[in-house]
Amino acid sequence: MTTILKTTHLNKFYRLGGLVKRVRINALDDVNLTVQSDKPVIISLVGESGSGKTTLAKVILRLIKPTSGSAVIYDQVVAGEGAIPSRKTFLNTLQPIFQNPFEAFSAYRTVDSYLQKTANRIGHKTNLETSDALGEALNSVGLKHADVKGKYPNQFSGGELQRVSIARALIPKPKIIIADEPVSMVDASLRMNIINLFLSLKEVYKTSFLYITHDLATAYYVSDYIAVMYRGTIVEFGNARAILSQPQHPYTQLLLDSIAGTNRKWERKTYKASDMEAKEFQFSGCRFRNRCPLAKDLCKEQRPPAVLQNDGREVYCHFVDQT
Ligand SMILES: Nc1ncnc2c1ncn2[C@@H]1O[C@H](COP(=O)(O)OP(=O)(O)O)[C@@H](O)[C@H]1O
Ligand SMILES: [Mg+2]
Repeated sequence: MTTILKTTHLNKFYRLGGLVKRVRINALDDVNLTVQSDKPVIISLVGESGSGKTTLAKVILRLIKPTSGSAVIYDQVVAGEGAIPSRKTFLNTLQPIFQNPFEAFSAYRTVDSYLQKTANRIGHKTNLETSDALGEALNSVGLKHADVKGKYPNQFSGGELQRVSIARALIPKPKIIIADEPVSMVDASLRMNIINLFLSLKEVYKTSFLYITHDLATAYYVSDYIAVMYRGTIVEFGNARAILSQPQHPYTQLLLDSIAGTNRKWERKTYKASDMEAKEFQFSGCRFRNRCPLAKDLCKEQRPPAVLQNDGREVYCHFVDQT
């Protein structure tokens, strides 16, 4: 089986604050995730703002180095100790798409020049080869080469431009696309188009996705696997259907309540004052304990271990029942 995603004791610490009082933010704190499959999968990474999702994406994309630990994507070590793939292998393995497509493209360059550059970088040299690669990638996201040629970013809607950035990501025929909040800047009415596009790319092109989102509703719709994060730690991880139909971690339960409409906190960009957030990052035990209905003294003292359930999911809680 292919190791699509594996992180081993992955840690990333940031330091904040002045010289006197410095705060350490363990934006990734011993993150251990393993997804093995012979089929393409959509893995969702969910959690509210400040849980470490973007940090994980950046480590995987080699934009930042982890403090310790390692990450493997499609059997390639992408972070930490080990044989790092060549640039070409890396580009053919994983590609990013970002939250704001208007930031991904300069306002002063035509968008097709970006696609051309990507095609050239992976070895398409002739005009014909390049044009074929662009045409195919654009078709697969429902656009025509002629509609895009010579146009600047401001000539597209957010949804269209996000499609162009997905087309760009597809040119190297990557095995997995790392998509960090790819629909949060897209009009609500067009979000499902992009999400459905992920599903069709998975079927037709066998592309896997790491879909990073704070939107549990879309995660519910597309995911094969789901990892729920809270303040740098994984709280629940496993089969998406199982977790979303029967959440076991109190935090996952809270999140699901929030999409049911009873708790709107989830939709806010930041949950509480950042002081609180920074404080929770310093907790040595369970970081969710202040908000948790099950919390006891043990949760202050010890980080909860992964409790493996019958259905293969892992729940990081001292007081969850083992099934
Ligand atoms: N470059 C940085 N320097 C210091 N702290 C950072 C940096 N990037 C992120 N953080 C902090 O790390 C935590 C996780 O951030 P992030 O990975 O962006 O979370 P998410 O994507 O889930 O919102 C937050 O508390 C954030 O303030
Ligand atoms: Mg983020």
